[in-house]
Amino acid sequence: MADEQLHAQFLANKIVALGGEPTTTPRPVPSAKSNREMLEAVLAAERQATVDYTQRAREAEEFNDKGLAVQLEDIVRDESGHSEETERILRDWPL
Ligand SMILES: [Fe+2]
Repeated sequence: MADEQLHAQFLANKIVALGGEPTTTPRPVPSAKSNREMLEAVLAAERQATVDYTQRAREAEEFNDKGLAVQLEDIVRDESGHSEETERILRDWPL
């Protein structure tokens, strides 16, 4: 959660720096009937974030903004770590 907040803060500042207006509407969160179901939704969201930020990093390269591309790749690293952490919880914890 702390990582996501830092990502959002960085991205909001970057969007403003580029002349845009950041959204304040989060993606919808699916409801869950169990801890396992909730963690599976978390894992899907972390994996999707990795895919999405990888694409944004590619676009930043094409836009010739190396600083942004590197930041986005750092975010990809964070999101990949979150996926692995969630996979471990789903595998090892008694849910
Ligand atoms: Fe994450």
